[in-house]
Amino acid sequence: MSDDTEDTLVRGQQRGSHGRQQDEGVLVIRAIAMPADTNPSGDIFGGWLMSQMDLAAGNMAGRVSQGRSATVSVEAMQFLRPVKVGDEVTLYATLRKVGRTSMRIHVDAWARARYSENAEKVTDADFIFVALDESGAPRPVFET
Ligand SMILES: CC(C)(COP(=O)(O)OP(=O)(O)OC[C@H]1O[C@@H](n2cnc3c(N)ncnc32)[C@H](O)[C@@H]1OP(=O)(O)O)[C@@H](O)C(=O)NCCC(=O)NCCS
Repeated sequence: MSDDTEDTLVRGQQRGSHGRQQDEGVLVIRAIAMPADTNPSGDIFGGWLMSQMDLAAGNMAGRVSQGRSATVSVEAMQFLRPVKVGDEVTLYATLRKVGRTSMRIHVDAWARARYSENAEKVTDADFIFVALDESGAPRPVFET
């Protein structure tokens, strides 16, 4: 990984496209919440959002470790506001820490209502990914 790429992944400064305060993280996923993703109450199912966050963190883990990796732990997940059908959901990932074989990746999820220019943070969490070799065993994140 080049120094420039690492700098972007660790401290990527990104201004939200809708004027909101989004002061850190790399935009990794943007998706529209669909009716198929709802819970029995009609709001978006938390599991759908968690899977999007896992995908976002996994995307960054792949870029950082340049290979296979897996989620070993999810910490401090909080659901701050409900997500509604039709919301545009944007996921930002920030590389917080690299260990020997693990990566701590913080993910923020923001939602913008379909007919609004305002986005609100709806969820965040830390995902710990472990870089894996071909056999599924931990490998150093940065090969020496
Ligand atoms: C990922 C996996 C190979 C790690 O195996 P392991 O025996 O725990 O490996 P280690 O003890 O060597 O730990 C590897 C790294 O993960 C970290 N780690 C392990 N468990 C952790 C946890 N619960 N929380 C935070 N970090 C953890 C260790 O600190 C270590 O980090 P470091 O090398 O940067 O110091 C194994 O746990 C596994 O296969 N888990 C299933 C992963 C998976 O399928 N994920 C998808 C879920 S559907």
